[in-house]
Amino acid sequence: MNIKEWLGENFVYRLFGCFYNKSHDDIFDFIKTKIPREFFHRKISDLGSGDGGNTERIKKIFQASKIVGYDHNDFLLERARKKGIRVKKFDLNKKLPKGEMATFTFSLHHAYNKENTLKNAVNNFDYIFICEPCLDLYHWLFDGGEPLPKNKWIELFDRVLKQYQIYQYKNNLIVFYKKLKKRD
Ligand SMILES: C[S@@+](CC[C@H](N)C(=O)[O-])C[C@H]1O[C@@H](n2cnc3c(N)ncnc32)[C@H](O)[C@@H]1O
Repeated sequence: MNIKEWLGENFVYRLFGCFYNKSHDDIFDFIKTKIPREFFHRKISDLGSGDGGNTERIKKIFQASKIVGYDHNDFLLERARKKGIRVKKFDLNKKLPKGEMATFTFSLHHAYNKENTLKNAVNNFDYIFICEPCLDLYHWLFDGGEPLPKNKWIELFDRVLKQYQIYQYKNNLIVFYKKLKKRD
């Protein structure tokens, strides 16, 4: 764990929760217009759910039939629980849960090995939604994770997901992936 990550996990998240997601309404307004029909009404595992602010937004725009938040930070899990969200403790770098649809919002860039984590998600879920920031000066200076530059994200998505829909909103890449069945 690097110093920025340690400060975030033990100081910033503890005192302020995921304060940045208070300004995410516009991102979700954009995402809402792009959701493929088959992504609605799914059972969602929100991986790296933080304080649950964006879990609530995900639940609403995807009209989830069920949503469970997963995170490793006890302070954030407690904040999400207080919002009435069902949460479980897990480690992005270890075994992922299995389910119908996984969502990563601003969390995949915290995985130590993004490729492994994404491959595990592909094995364990039929649908994956991703919203991740590209590396810029702000994230380089302040982010406890390690966002990739846009071209590196796309190389990773091409290698692991192969076929997917991608959009960009401001500095964020937004991805919808559906596992192909043999007959597709
Ligand atoms: C930038 S926050 C995003 C939170 C939330 N998804 C959102 O959009 O507001 C990153 C989240 O990933 C979680 N996280 C980081 N490393 C993790 C790990 N190894 N296992 C589980 N969660 C992790 C952090 O605790 C934090 O909640």
